[in-house]
Amino acid sequence: MCGIVAYIGQRNAYPVVLKGLKRLEYRGYDSAGIAIINHGLHVYKKKGKVAGLEDYLTGRNMESHIAIGHTRWATHGEPCDRNSHPHTSGDGKLAMIHNGIIENYAQLKQELLNKGHVFSSDTDTEVLIHFIEEIRNSNQCSVEEAVRIALKRVVGAYVIVIVDEDNPDTLIAARKGSPLVIGVGKGEHFLASDASPIVEYTKEVVYVNDYEIAIVKADELILKNITNERQTPYIQKLDIELTAIEKGGYDHFMLKEIFEQPQTIFDSLRGRLDAKNGQLTLGGIREYADVLKNANRIIIVACGTSWHAGLVAEYMIEELCRIPVEVEYASEFRYRNPVVGPGDVIIAVSQSGETADTLVAMESAKQKGAIILGVCNVVGSSIARLSHAGAYTHAGPEIGVASTKAFTAQLVVLCLIGLKVASEKGTITQQRFQHLLDELQDIPEKVAATLQLNDAVKQVADKYKDARDFLYLGRGYNFPVALEGALKLKEISYIHAEGYPAAEMKHGPIALVDEQLPVVFVATRDSFYEKIVSNIQEIKARKGKVIAIVTEGDQIIPGMADDVIEVPEADELVAPVISVIPLQLLAYHIGVLKGYDVDKPRNLAKSVTVE
Ligand code: F6R
Repeated sequence: MCGIVAYIGQRNAYPVVLKGLKRLEYRGYDSAGIAIINHGLHVYKKKGKVAGLEDYLTGRNMESHIAIGHTRWATHGEPCDRNSHPHTSGDGKLAMIHNGIIENYAQLKQELLNKGHVFSSDTDTEVLIHFIEEIRNSNQCSVEEAVRIALKRVVGAYVIVIVDEDNPDTLIAARKGSPLVIGVGKGEHFLASDASPIVEYTKEVVYVNDYEIAIVKADELILKNITNERQTPYIQKLDIELTAIEKGGYDHFMLKEIFEQPQTIFDSLRGRLDAKNGQLTLGGIREYADVLKNANRIIIVACGTSWHAGLVAEYMIEELCRIPVEVEYASEFRYRNPVVGPGDVIIAVSQSGETADTLVAMESAKQKGAIILGVCNVVGSSIARLSHAGAYTHAGPEIGVASTKAFTAQLVVLCLIGLKVASEKGTITQQRFQHLLDELQDIPEKVAATLQLNDAVKQVADKYKDARDFLYLGRGYNFPVALEGALKLKEISYIHAEGYPAAEMKHGPIALVDEQLPVVFVATRDSFYEKIVSNIQEIKARKGKVIAIVTEGDQIIPGMADDVIEVPEADELVAPVISVIPLQLLAYHIGVLKGYDVDKPRNLAKSVTVE
């Protein structure tokens, strides 16, 4: 949610920052802006995507060895040139980019208005840079000192980066709650919301911690805490390759990421699953194995697609481990004063590891004495760091805004956790344990086979692309898959879609069914099969159009459904990893056929760092 990039060093900073903004555009794309210093501070900003900013700047002299850039997902103030970042101080000498929210900005703004400040935007960011300027002027101190003082009063989450016309050899940055990575090059530094703008220049990075301020020069990086004590920057090696963040011949990142799933699932299992020897290792949670085994209750907190993965995990863990599981929307869990404490284990599931709602839910449960495990994709992310322990999903960078490969990796890792606990707890027979290990081992191949259905799914997409609404139905393990299919479709194609438990449909949504309504049934062969066949008949009796995802060789449903997609057979516990694939493809193709930008759907952003 908002991407920030900054550069200081020997190169011309503008192309570095511009390219970085394009890489970070998945985080927000309603406006973009850049500030450089070249005989004075120059700030350029434009509503719309980064390409629009680039066009606007073509032909200008953008030479500078220092630059900051921002791609925005609007919180305070509509997307327009005026509200775009960077924002400047009243004297026009400081420019700042910001990712996050300043919650007490209204109060600060009033104080500043009383002192005569004039604002030209509706943003909280402009208030903060004026506040920093006010402190600097009234205390006659450096910008660094003013930032430190200001941040003690600021409530909210932020990463900020400031350039100062009077100090063109220094960037000042600070973070609390939103991510900031600093790439360390030879005589140059790169700052960004994640490593993707950095990886092609250097593999050495420092993840800035909460409440740290970075004073960055071309050849020097100083980190200080909020009480002005020097901190030692901990340099880590990035383990991503440039190819992981490029489209690699695909039309869209979303399609690339859908097709990467055989590999990403394999990567999630690598080093953990040894089906041949009946072994399962999860180093990240080893120390908490007993806590998990003896948990009174497991509470999964997550948002969106990750919440859907949590719902599948609820079915898995209850079945395998006989531990009660609750799955909570992180945003609701935090604010309803939940009953949680010692003996409870929270599993926070997140692709980005930066989702603000999930973070605050974790923080509040941690304060109440619960143990927190993280299931995250982004290594070193805030959620990973806030967890007592956890397991990474290892799906690699996910750039398409709609989550695909991260979801299947989450399912696999949550299944591994369930199996591990069940085997330690003795709630699974050796035979079933071995069977599920074998099933997991076969998943990458079955997903690869499912991807061969791409053309068939595209035909279905073409047939139904003009529908106004869709209903997605499933039961048991496939119910969350139906929710996920509906979410994918609405995100990418802007078609209204609802997911429902198939049996619940007759308690209301069946009223929607007529000959215009496509109903997608996730109806692979499992313990609910006969029941879902009846549900299909109920829809057909009301002339609904049925698109069914079924197990290969199904003899019954193809005779009833209008369109059928056959996927490889799998144990019901792991079947969601396969049955979701055609739904991802269906959403993708409908979005593309309707002419939408599926990688950057309207109003969305990849990493939701505001509550
Ligand atoms: C949907 C999607 C979102 C995210 C949600 C949580 O395609 O991507 O619903 O799943 O915003 O994000 P993470 O998993 O990063 O916490």
